[in-house]
Amino acid sequence: MRTQAAVLHPGADRWAIEDIELDPPRECEVLVRIHACGLCHSEEHHRTGDVPLDHPTIGGHEGAGVVEAVGPGVRSVAVGDHVVFSSIPTCGRCGPCVTGHGNLCDEGRWIGSGRQLLDHTSRHHLDGTDLNIICLVGAFAHHTVVGEASIIKIGQDIPFEQACIVGCGVPTGWGSAVYTGGVRAGDDVAVLGVGGIGASAIQGARFAGARRIFAVDPVAYKRDEALALGATHVAGSIEEAIELVREVTWGLLCRVTICAMGVGRGDLMRSIMELCAKHGRVVVVNIHPVNDSPPTIDMLNLTGYEKQVVGSIFGSVNSRRDVPRLLALWREGPLGLDRLVTRTYDGLSHINEGYQDMRDGRNLRGVLVLD
Ligand SMILES: NC(=O)c1ccc[n+]([C@@H]2O[C@H](COP(=O)([O-])OP(=O)(O)OC[C@H]3O[C@@H](n4cnc5c(N)ncnc54)[C@H](O)[C@@H]3O)[C@@H](O)[C@H]2O)c1
Ligand SMILES: [Zn+2]
Ligand SMILES: [Zn+2]
Repeated sequence: MRTQAAVLHPGADRWAIEDIELDPPRECEVLVRIHACGLCHSEEHHRTGDVPLDHPTIGGHEGAGVVEAVGPGVRSVAVGDHVVFSSIPTCGRCGPCVTGHGNLCDEGRWIGSGRQLLDHTSRHHLDGTDLNIICLVGAFAHHTVVGEASIIKIGQDIPFEQACIVGCGVPTGWGSAVYTGGVRAGDDVAVLGVGGIGASAIQGARFAGARRIFAVDPVAYKRDEALALGATHVAGSIEEAIELVREVTWGLLCRVTICAMGVGRGDLMRSIMELCAKHGRVVVVNIHPVNDSPPTIDMLNLTGYEKQVVGSIFGSVNSRRDVPRLLALWREGPLGLDRLVTRTYDGLSHINEGYQDMRDGRNLRGVLVLD
């Protein structure tokens, strides 16, 4: 079939809207008509070259839509079901999946390939050239074909523009506080960067019982949103936050610090560690450019105070459990998805404008609505 997708060509600095050819789903694959897709910062790293792509690629890993066809062997969804994509596939059979670490599913090793899990070929083509799909999803499109491992069925009552961000931003941020960070009742927490990820981390920390949440962002609008979502204190920079946290916590500092800035920077790690309490944990969610300078950390201080620095991919969530759980929390009230979607854009053609708004600090999350 013919459909339309936003493609990033290697070296290009804008998304191109292309008419593409899409093959039918093969074994254990699903054809989805996409109704909404979120503009996560992760695609931006490919556009800037922080994490370069070497092949034309359909972006978008936060998406929600309706199943239009299924290949042989698909069991978990049927035509007409509403679904979101899991930005990391979960096969349910590998070691990480069966031990509760679906975010580290062994099939995730194919994410960089951009091809289908089944046979490592492409269903998406542009003028005879095979296209890659980001995160094995390719949600910046009216239709896509993905493996069943990337599909999660959701209730039909959930608006697509809210559902889509539960494919990456919400679980990544929420889980970085609740799971990777292990925030407990009474903890003091710092969240660095208030985009889709940081705003969700604030909500996760609040829900887990944090006492004080220090949100740090250079953009005043983001700091206001942070306060509305549950932060108790805000600062415009890490240096400012160090002073504030020292004063407010009487020098005890934060048990959990979550790094959710748009672009990770190794040269900031030394300052970030100054926010970290004895036996505290710094959770690195933000993506660092491949050529970023190596982080500088005061290792004597790390040892002496038993500080931990841990990475966090997809918020350490098990998406098959956590996506429905987060949507239930939204339905029942405590999770504010509506506020995370600052702005919607009508159609794929607004993608470059949406990303410009992200760069300008105007959105917690922008979402493209496709009908
Ligand atoms: N590990 C994962 O699984 C995973 C998943 C999704 C996204 N990410 C990454 O998380 C990061 C955040 O993504 P997002 O979509 O929320 O981005 P975003 O652009 O929406 O938000 C980033 C925020 O960081 C702020 N910021 C920039 N420099 C800062 C600084 N020095 N101090 C404090 N705040 C600063 C910006 O003003 C902005 O509000 C990105 O690097 C993204 O690629 C990681
Ligand atoms: Zn993402
Ligand atoms: Zn697996």
